[in-house]
Amino acid sequence: MEKQWWQEEVIYQIYPKSFYDSNGDGIGDLRGITEKLDYLKDLGVTMLWICPIYKSPMDDNGYDISDYKAISEEFGTMEDSDRLISEAEKRKIKIIMDLVINHTSDEHEWFQTALKNPKSKYHDYYIFKDGKEPPNNWRSVFGGSVWEKVPGRDEFYFHSFGKKQPDLNWENPELREDLYKIVNWWLEKGIAGFRIDAITFIKKDLTWADREADGADNLARCTKAVRNQPGIIDFLNELNEKTFKPHNCFTVAEAAGVGYDELGNFIGDNGCFSVIFDFRYADLDIASGSEWYERIDWKISDLNKKIMESQLSMQKYGFSANFIENHDQPRATTKYLKENQNNSDAVKTLGAMYFFLKGLPFIYQGQELGMVNFERKCIEEFNDLSSIDQYYRSLQEEYSKEEALNFVNLRSRDNPRVPFPWNNEKYGGFSQNKPWLSMAEEYPKINAESQIGKSGSIYEFYKSMIGFRQKGKYRNCLIYGDIQPAESSENVIAYKRFTETEEIYCYFNFSGKNTVEQLSKGGYEQIWTTFGEAEISGDKLILKPFQSVLLKSKP
Ligand code: NOJ
Repeated sequence: MEKQWWQEEVIYQIYPKSFYDSNGDGIGDLRGITEKLDYLKDLGVTMLWICPIYKSPMDDNGYDISDYKAISEEFGTMEDSDRLISEAEKRKIKIIMDLVINHTSDEHEWFQTALKNPKSKYHDYYIFKDGKEPPNNWRSVFGGSVWEKVPGRDEFYFHSFGKKQPDLNWENPELREDLYKIVNWWLEKGIAGFRIDAITFIKKDLTWADREADGADNLARCTKAVRNQPGIIDFLNELNEKTFKPHNCFTVAEAAGVGYDELGNFIGDNGCFSVIFDFRYADLDIASGSEWYERIDWKISDLNKKIMESQLSMQKYGFSANFIENHDQPRATTKYLKENQNNSDAVKTLGAMYFFLKGLPFIYQGQELGMVNFERKCIEEFNDLSSIDQYYRSLQEEYSKEEALNFVNLRSRDNPRVPFPWNNEKYGGFSQNKPWLSMAEEYPKINAESQIGKSGSIYEFYKSMIGFRQKGKYRNCLIYGDIQPAESSENVIAYKRFTETEEIYCYFNFSGKNTVEQLSKGGYEQIWTTFGEAEISGDKLILKPFQSVLLKSKP
């Protein structure tokens, strides 16, 4: 793969609603992000991914856009957005926006016009079907049929996600051109690119045929018919040619459903995106990636296998987008470390293990503090529409209320969406007033102020790890070097990063016990550890509980 300008970035994801509230309405905002740019600069990140800030009724917290060229009032104004971009630029921090173009809000003018006037051209901007009954039995990602009846007419519209998120009809060239204009308009404002939402959903199975039901609701999961369907690449190539490519911008796509053998179309020299997220290892605790109630008991060796498979597949074509958290995933500490979620050595090992993989590291807000899941006591405490649906579907599948609550607590998207804990004051210094979602229970203990400048804290650990990768002596190998799995004992993940001239072995001990690792040949220098020094005795490496170490092999 040819070298690209974005390969050295460290990306930090901001969920604006929960980052910092500058005006005391309990909701985070753009000015709040601008005020905290120095915090992000200090941490060492170089690019921000800002979740949707466009005008929206917020049914899905901004992933339901009603005007692509306006900012949602609770987040501020277009001037605030321009100011954020320019203030970030002063600090050499780039900004990428979330691009949601599989669907809009039902409150978008296009959809409203389509409803009011079925003869208008906007009717064909969406997917409508005539009939008295839903046209097929597909289940939407957030539950219930993908079809919603148009009030007063024998007609249904299609939505892959919530019913207030009608899908756009990408088969219509005029719609596509309108979307490209919006994409270019934002790029011309000086943003560095986009994180692209649900992009593999833009092409549907146009037979709209029923599928075999797979749940107590007698519906069939829609993903097999609406995700990564044949022909999608033509749409994606066109999008790339008309928007991203001429701007040489960075793009990271949420591209669930893409097979490893298809990656050449998506990333690398001939791909439509810079990188894509791979969810296979993020979803290793649930059966098929979407049935949250079919939980899987997994071991570190399974995680190791999945991560390495992903890395080796991505490396064939280009770079990976490495992450352990985002706004849709539970906190990584709780998910991957289970009962060790509060053990700071374990949290650091988890952070280092994914951070030194080949590719771009993404950090989700609060991950750098070691935040953990927040257990809620009843379904009424949840805000996220998909968590609420999951609870009721679990009951329908005949799980008990306790089991249903447990599933939702483990997987809920409200876990990472709690307000950012800046300090231990009331409302964690996030806002002067009651936040839109409760603070995480541990905020008096786990907050930024208690960690900044404190040696051994998780924040300081992340900061120094970022500095080591970005500015240290081994940056070339750690950023551009290839990856290969290395042998390790059962609870240790190990890999080698290498260039033609350097080799760095990376070991991460995920167990609370000492482990003994077999080194392939003698002569190693320890160049980085999560704490202390590991013991090397002949060709054996002895790792302390939850210790990680990077070894440079001596020629
Ligand atoms: C994926 C986004 O990450 C998620 O938060 C959103 O609900 C869906 N796409 C629908 O836009």
